[in-house]
Amino acid sequence: MPIYALGDREPAIHSDAYVHPDATVIGNVTLAAGASVWPQAVLRGDSGTVEVGERTSVQDGTVIHCTSFHPAKIGSDCVIGHNVHIEGAVIGDRCLIASGSVVLNGAVIEDGAVLGAGGVVSFDGHVPARSMALGVPAKVREGHVVPEEMTAGIVQVYLDNIATYREGLRRLD
Ligand SMILES: CC(C)(COP(=O)(O)OP(=O)(O)OC[C@H]1O[C@@H](n2cnc3c(N)ncnc32)[C@H](O)[C@@H]1OP(=O)(O)O)[C@@H](O)C(=O)NCCC(=O)NCCS
Repeated sequence: MPIYALGDREPAIHSDAYVHPDATVIGNVTLAAGASVWPQAVLRGDSGTVEVGERTSVQDGTVIHCTSFHPAKIGSDCVIGHNVHIEGAVIGDRCLIASGSVVLNGAVIEDGAVLGAGGVVSFDGHVPARSMALGVPAKVREGHVVPEEMTAGIVQVYLDNIATYREGLRRLD
């Protein structure tokens, strides 16, 4: 699988994390236990750092990058859906960043929040804890409180996927 050091910047991947063979991880990237990175995802820690917390899945086609001013930091038990783009943003624990959404430098998404599919949180944007932000630019849905442990089911699916893929993935070409 393409996991690269860049000079002395080298990924730190916990032995219980999983990187699919078609994902790319470069440089200062830290993956905690149970974190998983799926096909065609790219995590590039060149000018800064990229951190992915315990049991967080980074799904197919997602790109996570950073700058020297803006590390990308994602907490535990998050679901980062398909085709997401996260620049140097900070995302708390138990967040759902849904398919096709974009989170730019300096943005902060607090614990338990949801960014709906296709949403854009722009530079220095802020999504409060357990709120749901939707649209372009993303706006918080008034009066809506995201249930606690909202990501728990999907987190478990991806933990199970790690075991399934470790055991059963076979390349046939
Ligand atoms: C954000 C999301 C969780 C909301 O689901 P929900 O709470 O069931 O919301 P509803 O479908 O009942 O819609 C509520 C309102 O939000 C709007 N809405 C829902 N999702 C939206 C989105 N992604 N962007 C803009 N508006 C959205 C609906 O149009 C509706 O508006 P209205 O009240 O004016 O009619 C869901 O739409 C979503 O984006 N899921 C993503 C799943 C995913 O990407 N998973 C990752 C892979 S595992």
